[in-house]
Amino acid sequence: MTRILGIETSCDETGVAVLANGRTILANEVASQVDVHAAFGGVVPEIASRRHTECISQLTELALREAGGAPVDAVAATAGPGLMGSLLVGVNFAKALAYGWGVPYVPVHHLEGHIFSVFLAEEPPDFPFLALIVSGGHTCLIWCPAPHRYEWLGTTRDDAVGECFDKVARLLDLPYPGGPSIQKAAEAGDPAHIAFPRSMVHDGTLDFSYSGLKTAVLYQLQEGADDRADIAASFQAAAVDILVEKTKAAVKRMDAPCVVVAGGVAANRLLRERLQEALPVPVALPPFALCLDNGAMIAAAGASRLAHGHVGAMTDTANSSLPLQ
Ligand SMILES: Nc1ncnc2c1ncn2[C@@H]1O[C@H](COP(=O)(O)OP(=O)(O)OP(=O)(O)O)[C@@H](O)[C@H]1O
Ligand SMILES: [Mg+2]
Repeated sequence: MTRILGIETSCDETGVAVLANGRTILANEVASQVDVHAAFGGVVPEIASRRHTECISQLTELALREAGGAPVDAVAATAGPGLMGSLLVGVNFAKALAYGWGVPYVPVHHLEGHIFSVFLAEEPPDFPFLALIVSGGHTCLIWCPAPHRYEWLGTTRDDAVGECFDKVARLLDLPYPGGPSIQKAAEAGDPAHIAFPRSMVHDGTLDFSYSGLKTAVLYQLQEGADDRADIAASFQAAAVDILVEKTKAAVKRMDAPCVVVAGGVAANRLLRERLQEALPVPVALPPFALCLDNGAMIAAAGASRLAHGHVGAMTDTANSSLPLQ
């Protein structure tokens, strides 16, 4: 049995997990900092990195205890992209453990981690597939012909969809993080109440734009709209529509046999339902608990990297804008 430790510290969640044979979760501990940052309405980078430093040792001890103890066969960590201070905590901690145990250190791209969260679902997808990544910092369509090969088809030209959920929640005085708050508020609202714009939907590209949608919500509020449930429901419908239409177009363009959806916004129930209804091919989704940042997805991607001989060096460091390649 090969066991891999996965460490995630790219933003405001400290995640440490142990995975057996690249697929079985033996431990998956996440220390969320949501409460700390909620008071500021968003993540404060300096506070985030300090919090990672405070809890990473204990979280790792806990995960290792649950998973049968140290050492493991390799240590994977998110090397980028993300907040530099936060990334450095995880990368240096991972390298120190790997060096001490005499096992490989495996750097992992955060988005590759999100994609690999789907391989921890009951029915993992087969390559090739189209990946829709929807998170706090990304909204992109990526063609994945084989493990660790990526072809970018489209991305957001401005805000990410998760960021848009967070900003609109703030406009509506709903608590941070915005995604779950808007989803909850929308349950009591009418999604057809306001026809928000579906920017760039039929422009022939696979790119996205979310800043106009956020501004449209602001204008509605300035014009006196005050039913938060209706605004949340109408906003969510528009945000999801854009993702569904662009993904449909990408499936057609690539003749994709399957779509993988990952990232924090993949936890959105309307998005999950609409994609499954609207796409002509199977949709592979991560378990709800693995949509947000966690160590298990990093261990899963790390296990595959290790199997393909992609290991890091002790001289490697974090890169806040690491490209996916
Ligand atoms: N149910 C939901 N509906 C919509 N959005 C959601 C839901 N749950 C979480 N989100 C959003 O997911 C985002 C967080 O996702 P994630 O943790 O993957 O992002 P990140 O790690 O900060 O960014 P990235 O992965 O791009 O570096 C937040 O913007 C949050 O509002
Ligand atoms: Mg993420």
